[in-house]
Amino acid sequence: MKIFTTKKELQQYLLQIKGLHKSIGLVPTLGALHKGHISLIEQAQKNNDVVVCSIFVNPTQFNDPKDLEKYPRTIEADIALLEQVNCDILFNPPVSEIYDDNEQWHLEIGPMEQLLEGKSRPGHYQGVTQIVSKLFNIVNPDTAFFGQKDYQQFSVISKMVELLKMPVQLVMCPIKREADGLAMSSRNIHLTTADRQHSLVLSKTLNWVKENFNRSEIQQLKHKAELMISAEEGVELDYFEIADGETLLPANEDTKTIVALVAAKVGKTRLIDNVLLIHGQ
Ligand code: PAF
Repeated sequence: MKIFTTKKELQQYLLQIKGLHKSIGLVPTLGALHKGHISLIEQAQKNNDVVVCSIFVNPTQFNDPKDLEKYPRTIEADIALLEQVNCDILFNPPVSEIYDDNEQWHLEIGPMEQLLEGKSRPGHYQGVTQIVSKLFNIVNPDTAFFGQKDYQQFSVISKMVELLKMPVQLVMCPIKREADGLAMSSRNIHLTTADRQHSLVLSKTLNWVKENFNRSEIQQLKHKAELMISAEEGVELDYFEIADGETLLPANEDTKTIVALVAAKVGKTRLIDNVLLIHGQ
């Protein structure tokens, strides 16, 4: 695997690849890689000739400095994992390579920016769009791969690509789960043994909502789900929403694509999860 830490060297190398008319897939990550990330790399390998993984703990998307400081950094293990799955290129720049001092960014994303994660983490999606647009401009990928676990992030990035008319195709890959249902996340490292047990209420509740989706009204399902999660020891519910999969506004009985999304603090760790709901299934 080729490892680049500067834009210039990466771009010079990618120019040669583009000269050979090879397609490029990009998997942007914050590192602390797990099987969920690896599934993105594998999907990118299926769809593209060359795969670039970026590892960059992007400071502008963390509204809480403690969260940024605490974010797991496991670069040696990440490199070993990427080599094991034959990833072609790793882009692992320092912050100074990506940001100039006092750099400004604002993208008018629309109402979605203020909902759910956006409400709990003000400015988060400005930071996400800022870094993802930079990575798209540096790598110029044909296709970029993101996990469904960050469903709202995928919607926001799709909106950015549409607004800025960026020539990249986006692919959303399914959530990878542990055997007991917990959605894989780099943050799971922080869960204590007790937290780990309590965290299961999130996927269990989402599954319960999915199973009962065609049997109950949306408002009743949401209310019951909120009660189920709030009743779990050590879990502090942030939001549970049954939303329109396109706008992320609350869904009603006529909404076509529906997604149930949850965020909660389990012990000291904030987790998110979601499930797509289908009428008539
Ligand atoms: O989902 C993530 O890991 C990050 O938000 C991303 C897309 C790599 C941007 O920093």
